[in-house]
Amino acid sequence: MKRLNMRSDTQTLPTPGMRQAIFEAVLGDDTYGEDPTVKEFESLAAEMVGMEAALLVLSGNMGNLVALMAHGAPGDEVILDQDSHIFYYEVGGLANIAGLMPMPVRSHAGMLDPQEVAAAIRSPNLHYPTPRLLCLENTHNRSGGRVVPLDLHNELCAVARERGLSVHLDGARIFNAAQAAGAAVTDYTENVDSIQVCLTKGLGCPLGSFVAGSREFIERADRARKRLGGGMRQAGLIAAGGTYALRNHVDRLSEDHRRARTLATALNGMPGLSVDMATVESNMVYIDHTGLGMSTGEFTAALKEAGVIVSTRPPHHVRMCTSLEHDDATIEEVIDRVANIVQGAPACV
Ligand SMILES: Cc1ncc(COP(=O)(O)O)c(C=O)c1O
Repeated sequence: MKRLNMRSDTQTLPTPGMRQAIFEAVLGDDTYGEDPTVKEFESLAAEMVGMEAALLVLSGNMGNLVALMAHGAPGDEVILDQDSHIFYYEVGGLANIAGLMPMPVRSHAGMLDPQEVAAAIRSPNLHYPTPRLLCLENTHNRSGGRVVPLDLHNELCAVARERGLSVHLDGARIFNAAQAAGAAVTDYTENVDSIQVCLTKGLGCPLGSFVAGSREFIERADRARKRLGGGMRQAGLIAAGGTYALRNHVDRLSEDHRRARTLATALNGMPGLSVDMATVESNMVYIDHTGLGMSTGEFTAALKEAGVIVSTRPPHHVRMCTSLEHDDATIEEVIDRVANIVQGAPACV
């Protein structure tokens, strides 16, 4: 039985074209600024997000951390969503490595409220840390890949600007966000100071992210990367995959979104399962299994037994994520296998 891995878009393997590009990469020592493949990648990456310069880093986590270190000094305050990846999933690096003070604001299904953000930015006072940075995230991971609309994004940037804060965008999946919003990535970067973009999600690379911003910002980010031990040598092996992905894997992301909707629609129609269709905006589907009479562990185990691998969001949800690993036939097969489980579920027999 074929294993259908729907756990995450991070599980993608390099396509044959990408493997070939990596194999053929011309290499040099990047710490000496002598890897032509890295240089080519960084200039393409900067151009595609409309920034002056870009820097290759090892992961999204490292990209965000490097950006935070380049923006703030220890003790400065960062306004960010309590459900953001930076706050929730990055091991507290914001505080314990960058030395920054988080001021969390809760988003509503991934959407920050400009008034609540404004209220969280403290006025100058001897007793307070200095508010330095607003962090945004798009698409928003913990809300299920929700897309922050451009209007709201720009309103949030304006709130930060008015109060003298810089803006960092965790754009791990910004190409998904822009396509889903029918906007250009550069529309989303116009009013931010820096962005972090993951190559390892829907873009299908085995490794790497990039940070982009002004040339001066990237010089500081480069020093932060080095401080973290992220200076690399023949990094063209990573960059070659990145260049290939930016040239070949961006436009196809809308296929992942279409397949996520197909999957969500079918699962939402099954007894015992429900999907909030309004939340299916990019490549993630959160499936509420309450009506099956099974725990998340039991449902996930039954799926695994049927060769369908998902991630869990207990107590009521599992998550499936579409990517370039899946074609239409894979989605149909997942739907069939889930339908079989549903038929035998305690609440449905
Ligand atoms: C929104 C967001 N930011 C950052 C990251 C971190 O990326 P990495 O796993 O490459 O460190 C992720 C990973 O899923 C993410 O979803």
